[in-house]
Amino acid sequence: MDVDGVFDASYQRVLESRVAGRDFFETFYDRFLSASDEVAETFRDTDMARQQAMLKASFYHLVSFYGASDADYYLRRVAISHNRYHRGIRPGLYALWLETLIATLREHDADCDAETELAWRLVMAPGIVYMVFHYDRETPVGQPDA
Ligand code: HEM
Repeated sequence: MDVDGVFDASYQRVLESRVAGRDFFETFYDRFLSASDEVAETFRDTDMARQQAMLKASFYHLVSFYGASDADYYLRRVAISHNRYHRGIRPGLYALWLETLIATLREHDADCDAETELAWRLVMAPGIVYMVFHYDRETPVGQPDA
C-alpha cells in the first residue's frame, strides 16, 4: 500500500470537509472533550479555536516524523510540553486521542475505507510513540537544531 499517497489524499478530503457545519479539527475536539471528563478538565481554560489551529499545524510535523523518523524542533518541544513535568498528559490518553481521530476521520472522509484508516494509524503511530516516550524525560531526544 502507498501509505503516504492514501493518507495525503484522505487528508485533503477531510480538510475540505464540513459535517454539521464543523470542520475536521472542530469535530475532533468536540468528540475528544466529550469522550472523557479527564480530557474536558485538562482543556478547561483553553481557547479551543486556537487549540484547533495548533493541532492542525502539528499534523505537518507528525507526518514528517513518519517519513523521516526524526523529530524536528517543533515536535520535540510539543513532546516536552506534554510530559509529566509540564502538562502531565498521561500516556493512556494518547490511545483515546488516536481513536477519537479515527472516529473523526470516518465521519469527515466519505471515501474512508479500511486502507485509509490503516494509513492514518501508520502515519500517526511514530509521532504518538515519540510523545509517550518523552513522558518521563526532562530533555528531548532527536536531532540537534542546525
Ligand atoms: C500526538 C498527539 C498530540 C499532539 C500532536 C498535540 C499537539 C499539541 C500542540 C501543538 C499544543 C500547543 C503547543 C504546546 O503546548 O506544546 C498542544 C497543547 C495541549 N495539548 Fe496536546 N497534542 C497531542 C496529544 C494530547 C493529548 C492526548 C492530550 C490530553 C488531553 C493533550 C492535551 C493538551 C493540552 C491540555 C494542551 C494545552 C492547551 C492550552 O494551551 O490550554 N494533547 N498539544
